[in-house]
Amino acid sequence: MGRALATTVAAAGHPTTVWNRTPGRAGDLDTARTSETRSVRDAVRASTLVVVCLLDAASVREVLDPVTDALDGRTLVNVTTTTPEQSRALGTWADAHGAAYLDGGIMAVPPMIGGDGSLVLYSGDPAAYERWRSVLERWGESPYLGDDAGLAALYDLAMLAGMYAMFAGFFHGAAMVATAGISARAFAESAVPFVSAMVPAFLEYAAVIDGGDYGVPGQQSLEFSVLSDMVQASVDAGVAPDVVAAVQGLIRAQIDAGHGKDGFARAYESIARPTTGAAR
Ligand SMILES: NC(=O)c1ccc[n+]([C@@H]2O[C@H](COP(=O)([O-])OP(=O)(O)OC[C@H]3O[C@@H](n4cnc5c(N)ncnc54)[C@H](OP(=O)(O)O)[C@@H]3O)[C@@H](O)[C@H]2O)c1
Repeated sequence: MGRALATTVAAAGHPTTVWNRTPGRAGDLDTARTSETRSVRDAVRASTLVVVCLLDAASVREVLDPVTDALDGRTLVNVTTTTPEQSRALGTWADAHGAAYLDGGIMAVPPMIGGDGSLVLYSGDPAAYERWRSVLERWGESPYLGDDAGLAALYDLAMLAGMYAMFAGFFHGAAMVATAGISARAFAESAVPFVSAMVPAFLEYAAVIDGGDYGVPGQQSLEFSVLSDMVQASVDAGVAPDVVAAVQGLIRAQIDAGHGKDGFARAYESIARPTTGAAR
């Protein structure tokens, strides 16, 4: 990812200095605009905008702790995946060393960087965002979410939660049909258009959740959505029911609390307010 970010800004004409723990991984970076240094300190000193893309929050501190004196007066943009609390802690740490801090959540894979559909979320120092926005936009759409440094990571991980739960649902379905000799590929060809057609329902569920009235007429009720057949069919086929049983658990908690006639969107309450939601 670091290579994709560096290549894109260099191709846009920004002189770029790169550093990587293992030398020589810069690949075919444009040497006219990019130089590779063996020293973190030299990399930090080379520019007023310092972009960090490493493995995790610990590696960011491991790399930058020895050169904190060089951070003073610079902007640090950290696009390493971190938890919101880790991002806030990095923001406080950067501030203590005189650096303006922006946290980024990359919602793209390396080949997408700089192209259509690339999205990088930002939060943290608003002045730093405005100052460097034209550079950050080289990587893709670059919305600013707010001055809480943890917001970009929160949003990033929330988006990934939806993605991983969806993929796990696909794996579950593929395992079910495999028991009848159907390949995952054949199943995917049916599942992609079906699930794609369902995705816009996010907006309908969002309207119910934001409105707070789970009894709005016309919704599929929790009692109707209890997933008993789905769980039973999985068990009968010898497939682990965990993925769908987890969703069933969210629904059951609301039914048990007396909300069975309410819409499926009420399952949100089992997640958002695990101790009090059932009573809402
Ligand atoms: N790839 C994606 O699709 C994607 C998408 C969104 C976000 N991200 C995020 O971007 C970050 C980088 O991902 P990636 O795909 O580029 O991973 P990667 O290919 O595994 O690269 C990790 C980088 O971190 C360096 N590193 C790891 N531990 C280190 C340490 N203790 N000290 C110094 N350097 C260290 C590695 O250096 P060496 O070369 O020396 O090992 C390498 O340059 C991650 O936080 C990831 O979650 C990636």
